[in-house]
Amino acid sequence: MSEPCTHLLLFGATGDLSKRMLLPSLYNLDADCLLPDCLRIIATARSEFDTPAFVAVVAAALDQFVDAERRSPVCDARFLARLAYVSLDASKPDAFAELAAAVGDSAQVSIFLSTAPSLFGPTIAGLAAAGLAGPGARLALEKPLGSDLASSRLINDAVAAAYPEDRTFRIDHYLGKETVQNLLALRFGNTLFEPLWNAAGIDHVQITIAETVGLESRAGYYDGMGALRDMVQNHMLQLLALVAMEPPARFDPASVRDEKVKVLRSLRPIDRRTVESHSVRGQYTSGAVAGQPVKAYAEELGKTSGTETFVALKAHVDNWRWQGVPFYLRTGKRLPERMSEIIVQFRPVPHSMFGDAVLKANKLVISLQPDENVGLTMMAKAPGLDREGLKLRSVPLHIGMDNAFADVRRRIAYERLLLDLIEGKQTLFVRRDEVEAQWTWIDQIRAGWEATDMAPKPYAAGNWGPPAAIALTERNGVSWHD
Ligand code: BG6
Repeated sequence: MSEPCTHLLLFGATGDLSKRMLLPSLYNLDADCLLPDCLRIIATARSEFDTPAFVAVVAAALDQFVDAERRSPVCDARFLARLAYVSLDASKPDAFAELAAAVGDSAQVSIFLSTAPSLFGPTIAGLAAAGLAGPGARLALEKPLGSDLASSRLINDAVAAAYPEDRTFRIDHYLGKETVQNLLALRFGNTLFEPLWNAAGIDHVQITIAETVGLESRAGYYDGMGALRDMVQNHMLQLLALVAMEPPARFDPASVRDEKVKVLRSLRPIDRRTVESHSVRGQYTSGAVAGQPVKAYAEELGKTSGTETFVALKAHVDNWRWQGVPFYLRTGKRLPERMSEIIVQFRPVPHSMFGDAVLKANKLVISLQPDENVGLTMMAKAPGLDREGLKLRSVPLHIGMDNAFADVRRRIAYERLLLDLIEGKQTLFVRRDEVEAQWTWIDQIRAGWEATDMAPKPYAAGNWGPPAAIALTERNGVSWHD
């Protein structure tokens, strides 16, 4: 499966993700001459465009979403010439014949479904019937891959009926982010951390994905899902798995994913007995973000809702390495800033020889966005003659990725993922057993919320969630790293 594909079929090609991320990513890859010369991109959607009309839509999207200095007339011409558009109603099996004709006898085709999940089943059936599921065909799927374990299994079964697992590419765009992969380099490319990377060396881990945006224009999708299913089920659990997994023997799809799934299966269930002490749900009310007044979630939605826009969890990985180490997770909309980071809080020294001087335990701060940074806090002596005793201060050791790799352009996560799909590399895609382990854990939390009638608590937009999120960690003497 490592032969590059000759055709990329893009379903949902007129959608927001396609215009903002997928087509600009493909353009960027093309500008760096990374796409196979012969690659044709066949776009499909319901809209009744012809190819020239679609090309005009793409050109406008590139104007908006590709940096001007990346553009050139030569690259524009080359990229736009790769495009063809086939209007297709996925619920009509006959429609796929035209698509098959556009692909022709090509042996290598990558198919990217960026459509409503309700269309996955008919689309896969249509593709298979049209002969587009043969040994050279790979299928990539964008989230949401279901809304619970049962619905995700239905999707996975429909996929498996046509595409075997080694040709199925489930996307979690966080795995395409540079710093997320850097986590692996940090853990397994250095000897420094691994001996301490366990319950003896680490007090707790925090993972935060904070967003300032609200509902945007996604009411139909988001209100049915909420923060737990929209962000924790996928991105946050993938981050947790990468932090907690055992060292894989190789950087290959089976080795990495085998280790991740073991972690996901070791997550201690949060159920009706523990849901109130281990989880917090919130929903934003009106407030201000970055000095701008913003409406309450219910007002944006136009009705009251029981959906959470914030969630905080205290998770545990029940294995030898992590016994007794809490993993605090939190994510939410309309928080004070856009910020994603992983904090690894090491344990304090067992004994201080410095009398009253306050020692702060080392902390590894891995910032994913907006800036990519890795920092490690260390105790250092404050300069001076120390007539009143040694003074110590916690100072950061900083690896600013922007400086260390100043000459390297930062890529959109989808550039990496699309190129890996085109080249058939699966390591950064999520395997079925991982998704199902993720849903199993999430479903228990939701069942716990239902059984205990746990409704979201209000928080004013622009705050770090409801006060209960602070209490969740403070009970254990831990503060969120804000
Ligand atoms: C998506 C969620 O998966 O990730 C969105 O559906 C969220 O609600 C987005 O805004 C966040 O991604 P990023 O890359 O901007 O952190």
